Amino acid sequence: MKEAIYPGSFDPVTYGHLDIIHRAASIFDELTVSVLNNVEKTPLFSVQERVKILEEATKDLPNVKVESFSGLLIDHAAEKGIHVSVRGLRAITDFEYELQIAQTNKLLSNGKLDTIFLTTSLEYAYLSSSSVKEIASFNGDISKCVPPFVAKLIYEKYGHRV
Ligand code: PNS
Repeated sequence: MKEAIYPGSFDPVTYGHLDIIHRAASIFDELTVSVLNNVEKTPLFSVQERVKILEEATKDLPNVKVESFSGLLIDHAAEKGIHVSVRGLRAITDFEYELQIAQTNKLLSNGKLDTIFLTTSLEYAYLSSSSVKEIASFNGDISKCVPPFVAKLIYEKYGHRV
């Protein structure tokens, strides 16, 4: 069985992430979307909220499951016996950061964790969780960026009426 892990902050999940999830789920037999519990960042949504949002957003994909992890991705992947990490590449600006993570994971795992990149579909190439949050904080329109139920949750966090 071909398994892969798609790690990320997903704070919150966007249509760009969902595009990668759908495409990775059609390539691999099982895809685990894993939310990083990063204690150094102050996220908009807690890890539990992000996991719940992702579960709802992927409920129609039977071979996708959602989890969270703390610490190193290579340890989390090893515990699960997964050897492929999936990441999305939006633009050339992502490349250096992503290459660094991929090479570091390959080195630290003694070659056991490889990374596969999917290029984000062009219509989502400009999207990021940060810009979605910034737009929503000013009560701007994020309907093209995230599913309606996610937009509602984001606006609520910023105290905007929905
Ligand atoms: O959505 P993001 O914030 O770009 O995702 C980054 C992520 C979660 C893939 C990366 O920060 C990560 O895997 N962090 C866990 C810690 C780790 O394994 N670091 C070593 C690789 S540099």
